[in-house]
Amino acid sequence: MTDKPSVWVSRPTFPEVVARLQPYFRVEEEPAERAFDPADLAAKLASHDAVIVGMKERIDAAAVAGARRLRIVANLAVGYDNLDLAALTAAGIAASNTADVLNESVADHAWALLLGAARRLGAAERWLRAGQWRATEFKAWLGTDVHGGTLGILGMGRIGQAVARRAAGFGMPVIYHNRSRLPEATERECRARYVDKATLLRESDFLVLVLPLTPETRHAIGADELAQMKPTAVLVNVARGGIVDDAALAAALREGRLVAAGLDVFEGEPRVHPDLLALDNVLLSPHIASATTGTRRAMTAVAVDNVLALFGHGPHAGHPPNLLNPDVLAMAGAPFPPHEEPTR
Ligand code: DGY
Repeated sequence: MTDKPSVWVSRPTFPEVVARLQPYFRVEEEPAERAFDPADLAAKLASHDAVIVGMKERIDAAAVAGARRLRIVANLAVGYDNLDLAALTAAGIAASNTADVLNESVADHAWALLLGAARRLGAAERWLRAGQWRATEFKAWLGTDVHGGTLGILGMGRIGQAVARRAAGFGMPVIYHNRSRLPEATERECRARYVDKATLLRESDFLVLVLPLTPETRHAIGADELAQMKPTAVLVNVARGGIVDDAALAAALREGRLVAAGLDVFEGEPRVHPDLLALDNVLLSPHIASATTGTRRAMTAVAVDNVLALFGHGPHAGHPPNLLNPDVLAMAGAPFPPHEEPTR
């Protein structure tokens, strides 16, 4: 019997899900969350046949330079700006993400931030907890009405569409801008009208960002874009830090050029720009838009499915369902031959 291939899981996930790897692989799952320096990470990548990693692990050409056995990097996120896809492809290493299973949870969280920022929930709760509520005042804590406002969405993939569908209950017209226009049927289903970016910025009462971080989208919302928005608008970012210029956003919020913001992601997180931390009209959450038990378990299952499939096992044997660089399969003549099937 040949040695089983090995999988490294870079953080604790859901043991009952990862257990599906056990019949086919030796599994090394980190017992606690920790940060890996580049040398530690390269050593892990060099000593396993598959890895399941998260956004904290930045995997580039240097990281995989010594990873001769490594066949797949399964990312525990839909966004994959932590992976250098070109470097992985050049090294013949497959990469996968967790597209789709988190759409609804991220859309829920975008709405939580939108509603919370519009109604000033973060600051109001801090004030109450600080024991400052002495009397109920008619004109205290006035916020912005959400219902009936125009919802703008920048980046209209599956998550953007899930955000849009929820707007019907609030009686909100929806406009969107995307690299490419959606099919008419999808626009109808989402009740969304395609507009150019300038119109989106000008007309949105609530602008939700749901686009991937790439060199082209870095600072897609900077000082110029913020200047085009209504001073009464609310900005929500559940996409990636770096899409918004956080310093420019803080200045706009401080100077009343934007009424509020709800942010789940930050440039350089887990650090948060000190100017944002100093403001009461921004509702902050620590990159948790997909963090529900059901969704994080489903994300783990998707990563496991992709690893199994690449090695010729499981329901998708030979066809990893979330492959980001399918060229690698052609290069390798995959599916990779299954290692010896386990005896049960
Ligand atoms: C993703 O999947 O990209 C999220 O940001 C992680 O929760």
